[in-house]
Amino acid sequence: MSNDKPWAGRFTQATDKFVEEFTASITFDQRMYRYDIQGSIAHARMLARQEIISSEDADQIVAGLEAILAEIEAGNFEFSVSLEDIHMNIEARLIERIGPVGGKLHTARSRNDQVALDIRLYLRDEVSSILAYLDKLQEALLDQAERNLTVIMPGYTHLQTAQPVLFAHHMLAYFEMFKRDSERMQDLRKRFNLLPLGAGALAGTTFPIDREWVAEQLGFDGVTRNSLDSVSDRDFAIEFCAAGSILMMHLSRFSEELVLWSSADFDFIELTDAFCTGSSIMPQKKNPDVPELVRGKTGRTYGNLVSLLTLMKSLPLAYNKDMQEDKEPLFDTIDTVKGSLKIFADMIAEMQVKADTLRTAAARGFSTATDVADYVVRKGLPFRQAHEVVGKTVRYCIEQNKDIPELSLDEFRQFSPLIEADIFDYVTLDASVNARTATGGTARVAVEREIARARAERQGR
Ligand code: ARG
Repeated sequence: MSNDKPWAGRFTQATDKFVEEFTASITFDQRMYRYDIQGSIAHARMLARQEIISSEDADQIVAGLEAILAEIEAGNFEFSVSLEDIHMNIEARLIERIGPVGGKLHTARSRNDQVALDIRLYLRDEVSSILAYLDKLQEALLDQAERNLTVIMPGYTHLQTAQPVLFAHHMLAYFEMFKRDSERMQDLRKRFNLLPLGAGALAGTTFPIDREWVAEQLGFDGVTRNSLDSVSDRDFAIEFCAAGSILMMHLSRFSEELVLWSSADFDFIELTDAFCTGSSIMPQKKNPDVPELVRGKTGRTYGNLVSLLTLMKSLPLAYNKDMQEDKEPLFDTIDTVKGSLKIFADMIAEMQVKADTLRTAAARGFSTATDVADYVVRKGLPFRQAHEVVGKTVRYCIEQNKDIPELSLDEFRQFSPLIEADIFDYVTLDASVNARTATGGTARVAVEREIARARAERQGR
């Protein structure tokens, strides 16, 4: 700091302190402490195996690291901003505890490959717990589908009643979405489950290290193949945030439906009190806060994805300090996705389904009109003409204030002489639903088949 400004004397100290805070990451990267220690222990053991340090030194280092882990878990560790990040906080404490020999731990390593390792170890665990929550939510959806196998609800397009569907079929639609989310998470985990340690600062190391051994110790599928790439890409964090955003998009659509369905106007479901709150002024209200908040939190995960993409754009190889900014968006997406899934799994498991109102709603809006069209098509009328016949029938129903199944045969026949008495076998809600038996359709047999298939697949894992 230059002292030649009139105010410099007064500012130097304060600015330095502020710069220190500004450049530090310890306030947020401390959550990776366990992985930092786990990685350091494997590294120290490898150094001894390769005779880069003595096994006595390694033993001391490992014991020191284990003691530090216990200190942190017990809440007895003081994180220091002047030591910048989790890596230097732990290393400094190690040297404080076991003396200068602690300084040997950083042999053949840099904070650049160390942080690349820590993020991967940490994210790997978080992906596992996200997968477990996804699994629980999928299970709850299958249970709801099974429990409500005969419940018919209106299926919508444009939020206008379109055709009746089984409530179970609707639940299975979400099951499929979360299944793909789960596959995306498993797939991206494969791509980042490789050891970056050994890349050093950027070019590798002059010491005879054994990366494959460390990879095995830490449960990696292998080692990364280029030191520059190992320390400088965060594509795996971006991929995770992209998969997390898609998952949250699914949750937000489901949330939106739960909000609508639990309103007095729809009255399709009831969420347990635990997932709602009251109003401070309107005593009749029970607000679906949880789905609303999940819907709202989706926004921050999209923001995190764009933050990371923008952060990494145009960065020259290899490490740049910019990359310290990768952690907060990543951590926030982890927390948001995990929290939303955890609460959704329980909320869906406890959701009460109102079969009668769903059925009544399904009968409104001439939801079986397509079935009349299909009927006359089967009798030989081209579909376009059939569409016209049914259009007129619906208009007549509106004028007469009648539902399609309430028409008499004579009334039906005004619109087409092809219609016969068996029309009544096709225009009920149950007939409409159960006619759609092809794979992926809403007929009860088709839905039962998919539930059985999903159960068997899950059992086979
Ligand atoms: N705290 C840093 C980060 O999160 C660790 C790596 C620092 N490396 C460096 N060369 N300054 O990115």
